[in-house]
Amino acid sequence: MRVDDVPPGRGREVPGPGPGPVTGAGLFAALCAARARSAESRRADRLFEDRIAQVAAEKVGGPPRPGERTAPMSELVALRTRFFDDELRAASGQCRQVVLLGAGLDSRAFRLDWPQGTEVYELDRGDVLRFKRGVVARAGQEPRCTRVEVAADLRGDWPGALRAAGFNPWRPTAWAAEGLLPLLSRSENDQMLSGITAMSAAGGRLVADHFDGALREALERTAMTEVLRAVGASWNSTLEAPQEWLAPHGWAFGLTDPRELARRSGREISGVFGPRAQGAGHLWLLSAVR
Ligand SMILES: C[S@@+](CC[C@H](N)C(=O)[O-])C[C@H]1O[C@@H](n2cnc3c(N)ncnc32)[C@H](O)[C@@H]1O
Repeated sequence: MRVDDVPPGRGREVPGPGPGPVTGAGLFAALCAARARSAESRRADRLFEDRIAQVAAEKVGGPPRPGERTAPMSELVALRTRFFDDELRAASGQCRQVVLLGAGLDSRAFRLDWPQGTEVYELDRGDVLRFKRGVVARAGQEPRCTRVEVAADLRGDWPGALRAAGFNPWRPTAWAAEGLLPLLSRSENDQMLSGITAMSAAGGRLVADHFDGALREALERTAMTEVLRAVGASWNSTLEAPQEWLAPHGWAFGLTDPRELARRSGREISGVFGPRAQGAGHLWLLSAVR
């Protein structure tokens, strides 16, 4: 299956690393991110190197080719990945617990140099984590921290699952929600933020991304949305004002402009995310502290 060209109604199957297909829109979204990272990993001036993404991308036809319709999203994912890498590296000085919410095929547990004693909790649905296990084994990667898988639905009792897996809410924690918030509804995001806040000791960090309604409208007309729709996924919320979402929960935050990130990295960013997109709205890259 090619990610760039899934015909509508084509179903939701992704061939698994073991016998039988793995199904699900969430996994497909995670594979799209991995595919973009795989392309970035091949560049001479790469912003990171992700072996797990390279193995995962083989499942969906290899990395994107130049000029593919989903190119703007791939450019953004590469920049966003480096942004999350840098934020989590910085947070790890103080936070020895890291929770990757909707971890998908995130390879940071294997890729970043974590300080000794760091525990990285990867929370996602059981089928996604199972699929990832096969990819990790095939990539021959070993974690560079204590890595803990937590199979849970973020719309259910995920805090209970996290604590049962050994998470200690009294220790400072860095939380990451990358590519996740737009897939959840506004009320699901609110509930998740309440859960994060309730388990965040002083000095906790949160890194996340989302977009506003104007950008969503622009995205609705892109190939990326078409591709996601074809596998049953959709954008389920927008975030108009990060201040109104985070401040009532006691989080101070900063915003990074992806176009500025592109400029600093010597990269182009095109389409709806690019500097020439008229009235295309906001993509929020949030780094918050409690
Ligand atoms: C776009 S992917 C991003 C994955 C990863 N954060 C990354 O950047 O590579 C979104 C992930 O969120 C997970 N996810 C979405 N809804 C979820 C839910 N209700 N509970 C648990 N995980 C969920 C999906 O399974 C998928 O792995």
